[in-house]
Amino acid sequence: DKFTVLCCGGGNAAQVATGLFAVRYNTIAVSFFADEAAKWKAALGDDEFELTIPGGGVMKSKPKDITNDPSVAKDADVILLVVPSFAHGEYFEKFAPHMKPGTIVATMPARSGGDILFASKLGDKAKDMIFCGFETLPWACRFTEWGKKATVLGTKNNILAAVSPISASRKALSKLQGLLGVNPLVEESPNNLGISLRNPGMCIHPGVMYGRWGPESWDGQPKDEAPLFYQGVDDFTEKVLTGMTDEVQAICCKMEEVAPGLNMKDACTLKQWYLDCYDGQMKDTSTLKSCMNTNAAYDGLKHPCKEVDGKFMPDLKYRYLSEDIPTGLCFAKGLAEILSLETPTIDKVVKWGQECIGLEIMVDGKMTGKDLDKTRAPQGMGITTLDAFLAASKIEK
Ligand code: NAI
Repeated sequence: DKFTVLCCGGGNAAQVATGLFAVRYNTIAVSFFADEAAKWKAALGDDEFELTIPGGGVMKSKPKDITNDPSVAKDADVILLVVPSFAHGEYFEKFAPHMKPGTIVATMPARSGGDILFASKLGDKAKDMIFCGFETLPWACRFTEWGKKATVLGTKNNILAAVSPISASRKALSKLQGLLGVNPLVEESPNNLGISLRNPGMCIHPGVMYGRWGPESWDGQPKDEAPLFYQGVDDFTEKVLTGMTDEVQAICCKMEEVAPGLNMKDACTLKQWYLDCYDGQMKDTSTLKSCMNTNAAYDGLKHPCKEVDGKFMPDLKYRYLSEDIPTGLCFAKGLAEILSLETPTIDKVVKWGQECIGLEIMVDGKMTGKDLDKTRAPQGMGITTLDAFLAASKIEK
């Protein structure tokens, strides 16, 4: 039997991954979103999918199928989720009855708490499966003709990935490396908790949004232009970001204290993350603010805004809040609560952000809101004690 991979989702990333894997493997694209699978299948028809790679080369391939039938999971060796993280739970749940033991399920990017969500959705079956969380997507990519053509704009050199259980790490990562090809180089991260708390988007995106549009800095009036997102980071926003990243560091320290031997090295500060990932692309690396202001990769990127009568209002439902708060920041806040750590900066960002996205997550500073189950807060997955958290994360005390 040929190695079979399911590539899940239907957006930019899923189409690119499908095109790439189908060149060499039995690849089935799966989307559970509305009628996306049927639409994609019709759009592609009898044609081959065309993927343009950096340098201009074109790879052509044909997925074996494009479907919304979860039972295709029965033949899968690897299931790769390349969709926004709020959709992960649905894929885990629908595949669960069909997966064979030893299936590798990887999420790209994992955001935070993906391993715990996976275990909670699979129940008893989780112990026979291998979960892998990638820190990010390896490609900057866009489809150019929906369902038929896509372009990889750039590929990262290295990406971190963690495997649960850790004993399956070597085997799983070498299979995933084979799938991805030479680039990026997949580097083993010690555990999924490190991937969860490293998640840079959970601080950067909501933090920069709060810094610009939160009650401390914005008067509610439209702007003449959409402000620059990264280059526009000012002293106030930097303070918010530093507060958040420091609070996450306190969580890491406490975790290493309660679970000796736990290696949290990859859950670094935001500044360190910039130094690791954008080395050579920043003109001034003296402060977090200067790393963001002078990063060439961010040139010209603006705040998500909507035009109203020729002026600009922020899009406060954009994924910088609607994805990064529920599946990122809420994990950190929830874990801090379990550890009895105060997180005043994260709290004020979550308090403001939850109203922007219309969710009730935190009430009076506690993770007890009615929409908790829509988040990756451990509390939303039924975990309220340290012992339960360690067990769910497969961490030894
Ligand atoms: P996308 O926005 O193109 O993904 C859209 C897809 O998500 C849809 O086609 C559908 O399959 C699914 N979806 C949307 N709404 C849904 C819903 N309500 N229920 C269920 N499924 C739904 O995103 P893209 O570009 O494919 O990125 C995937 C992930 O990778 C995101 O988390 C993104 O932040 C991340 N990423 C993307 C990069 C890129 O260059 N495209 C770069 C770095 C990270």
